[in-house]
Amino acid sequence: MDYERAKSLLRQAGQSHLLDYYGELDEKQRNILLKDIEKTDFTVLENIGLKRATSVGELSPVQAETSENISANREKYEKAGLEVLKAGKVGAVLLAGGQGTRLGFDKPKGMYDIGVTRHLYIFQLLMESVKNAACLSGVNFPLFIMTGEKNDAQTRTFFKENGFFGYPEDRVYFFVQDTEPACSYDGKIFLDEKYRLSLSPNGNGGWYESLVGSGASAVLEREGIEWLNVFGVDNVLQRICDPVFIGATCLSGCESGAKVVKKTCAEEKVGVLCKVDGKPSIIEYYDMPHKDAALCGADGGLVYRYGVILNYLFKVEKLNGTLGKKLPYHLAEKAIPHIENGVRVLPTQPNGYKFEKLVVDMISLTGDCLAFEVERNREFAPVKNKTGVDSVETARALLNENGVQL
Ligand code: UTP
Repeated sequence: MDYERAKSLLRQAGQSHLLDYYGELDEKQRNILLKDIEKTDFTVLENIGLKRATSVGELSPVQAETSENISANREKYEKAGLEVLKAGKVGAVLLAGGQGTRLGFDKPKGMYDIGVTRHLYIFQLLMESVKNAACLSGVNFPLFIMTGEKNDAQTRTFFKENGFFGYPEDRVYFFVQDTEPACSYDGKIFLDEKYRLSLSPNGNGGWYESLVGSGASAVLEREGIEWLNVFGVDNVLQRICDPVFIGATCLSGCESGAKVVKKTCAEEKVGVLCKVDGKPSIIEYYDMPHKDAALCGADGGLVYRYGVILNYLFKVEKLNGTLGKKLPYHLAEKAIPHIENGVRVLPTQPNGYKFEKLVVDMISLTGDCLAFEVERNREFAPVKNKTGVDSVETARALLNENGVQL
């Protein structure tokens, strides 16, 4: 894209300020800026004007595969899951493109050392779980790792330096997630540098599009992968490619599965798996009307009791069907560094929006979903914050409780 074209495009989009410093830039910087402008989809800004839905639709609870049921059928499920794994029909996807701002760690979150008397990196813990499933099934299934532009190089280097934590290097496929521009509250895109737009990862919901866009999805076709187990980087207790979960989902006839835990209280900040207008969906805690979140059933428990823990199983065929469909954007209010009057400022308070697609929104697009209840203290130890709720402290305590030497 040349300067004149960029100028006219930005005028139409109401973003002419992005060229304010063009005259000060050298040739290389000008090219970077013009490239950023070219790859930006300005229509994402229209989401600011869209009124937040006042009603989420008609809610009803889901029937879950309860932990009691799972215990009673464990052998059957495990056998079925192992068959699917052994047949090479499952791959895993680690979503590691987030910025982990709440943890306040300046490297990719997976590089965080949660050990006390020894090094124990989050990536290392996750890879132990991957290796465990590979060992049980006798198959080194492909592991796709989604990174963000800002943490991609560090993540790859870390895996290399650590010998891929004992997993075959040629079974690990990195891909970088897409970005969206960040803007002020009045919809003006920020400049991160005089020659760079402020671009941030577009949320964890864009993972399949990014996987396909990167070309890494060729592995799926080549190897006949039918299911993808998608999980986040935060949960240091999670079971990856858990045969019991895979078996239960396959036998249920559902097109996706979600590991869930019983919420500790109505206010717990987790997305809830339920039905919206009869279709399985996940409602984020901030979108759930309080009266519904707090509603109790005849057994005295919450009606909407199942919180998701970012561990899903998706049918690849169904994921392919989502490609043309647009996931909604969620507006996240964040403190966004930017250039102001020629100087880079680092705000401490939110000053604008980032646009994110969420993996939770994929559930309603991928058919029926099995809610698979797991024991919270055995499988859910999220590392979101440094201290307090869902923190390094709480995760360490849970790892300890599960016999992991720290
Ligand atoms: P979070 O919602 O906790 O976001 O991500 P975050 O960016 O990591 O952390 P905060 O909110 O800034 O503290 C949940 C999971 O989704 C991944 C994260 O890496 C984590 O595994 N994620 C999030 C992405 O892969 N890409 C994104 O754009 C956002």
